[in-house]
Amino acid sequence: TRLVVLISGSGSNLQAIIDACQSNQIKGEVVAVISNKEQAYGLTRAANAGIETKVLSHKAFATREDYDVELASLIDSFNPDLVVLAGFMRILTPSLVQKFKGKMLNIHPSLLPKYQGLNTHQRAIDAKDDVHGVSVHFVTEELDGGPVVLQAKVPILADDTAQTLAQRVHEQEHIIYPLVVQWFSEHRLTMEADYAVFDNQPL
Ligand code: GRF
Repeated sequence: TRLVVLISGSGSNLQAIIDACQSNQIKGEVVAVISNKEQAYGLTRAANAGIETKVLSHKAFATREDYDVELASLIDSFNPDLVVLAGFMRILTPSLVQKFKGKMLNIHPSLLPKYQGLNTHQRAIDAKDDVHGVSVHFVTEELDGGPVVLQAKVPILADDTAQTLAQRVHEQEHIIYPLVVQWFSEHRLTMEADYAVFDNQPL
């Protein structure tokens, strides 16, 4: 399974996926890492693992459509079986999403459908929730709205800040994202119409 991973930042989820490929948990390899930000630390992680890196800055493009046309052809040039969004902080155009339908996953730090969008940890604290978490989902045209494959829950503790809560969520991210990519690499996971199917069971 050829994986292309898109990042904008630290890339700790990227690292978890690289490690899972190296340990053979994921039957596949990260063939390229693409970032829209030159300073993303995940690029260093990729380079350290001997993975090809590309930076495609959105700043050079007049419109989101122009950027995404270029991004799609860059992704295509690596001939991936799966595109993994791992902290890629850009909204994708419908045509790009359409092009990789059923072949693109995202991780979002909330128990979807709660808290789509940004600042999820603070929003969960402000709402006085006792449980928070993270979701891995297929990407569809609806932002953070595609079919959920797997979620992990964490407690919200009385003295949590957005930072302490984010850290607790991150530990779970590093478990569930490689696991979902593993399932995809084993051909156990597909997207049919607008729902996810795992081991022939609609989720
Ligand atoms: C994670 O919180 C993920 O849920 C969100 O972006 C963050 C990426 O973190 N989509 P990292 O770059 O993998 O450390």
